[in-house]
Amino acid sequence: MVDQAAMNSKRNKGELIVVCGAKGGIGKTLISINLAIALQKNRKQVALWDGDFQFGDVDISLNLQPTFTMEEVIESMDSLDQYSLESLMTVHESGVAVLPAPRRPEFADLVTPAILTKTLNLLLERYERVVVDTGAGITEQSLSLLEQADQILLVTTSGLSPVKHTKSILEIFDALELRERVRVVINRSTMESMAPIEKILETLQIDTAYTVPNNFSVAHASLDEGRPLTLYKSKSDVARAIFKMAETMETGAPIDPIVPPKTSFFKKHSLKH
Ligand SMILES: Nc1ncnc2c1ncn2[C@@H]1O[C@H](COP(=O)(O)OP(=O)(O)OP(=O)(O)O)[C@@H](O)[C@H]1O
Ligand SMILES: [Mg+2]
Repeated sequence: MVDQAAMNSKRNKGELIVVCGAKGGIGKTLISINLAIALQKNRKQVALWDGDFQFGDVDISLNLQPTFTMEEVIESMDSLDQYSLESLMTVHESGVAVLPAPRRPEFADLVTPAILTKTLNLLLERYERVVVDTGAGITEQSLSLLEQADQILLVTTSGLSPVKHTKSILEIFDALELRERVRVVINRSTMESMAPIEKILETLQIDTAYTVPNNFSVAHASLDEGRPLTLYKSKSDVARAIFKMAETMETGAPIDPIVPPKTSFFKKHSLKH
């Protein structure tokens, strides 16, 4: 099998990071946006591509009013080069260049494999890191991006259903020989109702994972008020976890082992009865 990621790094300067997950509402967009900003703060030139072509909300979540979206990229495809593509991007105050999803869901089908590949290659020529947020599950479009990814972040939360479906996606990645590029992100990891992290790792048959704590007010302000937590709440626990993730991804270091959270005195006490 041709190693597409190795070919990308030879041909372009950019590295492709695809954020995916089995379910909706598990934090893919929160993580994509804030990871892109964390990488940009690390002095990388970063593009954030909304790959949820039907219902993408990266622009709303960053409080952007883009003049151009993927629709204009499709329209100018024949003459597109890295410079004209750059002029269609909307630059966020963080410096991250954003390529929003089409304005209407029916335009998602216009993103053909040829358009996807050309856009991706031009982004990788122009930017050092291209972060792609994707919609729930795996589609033909997201699969084509995943196959070309240098790093894949597979986001899950702890519920029975997300973990079960995350396991299925890991099996698919195994079959496609993409497994080595995949790292699991357990989002909202400190939620009280969470299954123990060790149990999730055991079910997924992995040794470790990135964890992002649960913090509703910080996450809500980041997405619903368009105030990204890596900019506006950079000392918060969620921001620190995402900065650490960005650093680990950049250095290629192993993910820190997971330290199980201490059980509170009250919880310990109540467990005895
Ligand atoms: N670490 C977290 N702590 C608390 N709330 C969170 C956290 N991460 C995400 N959320 C909340 O979960 C909701 C869904 O997040 P997000 O939009 O990032 O999910 P998604 O996987 O991109 O969903 P979709 O598939 O619908 O695009 C948001 O309301 C967000 O505030
Ligand atoms: Mg999303």
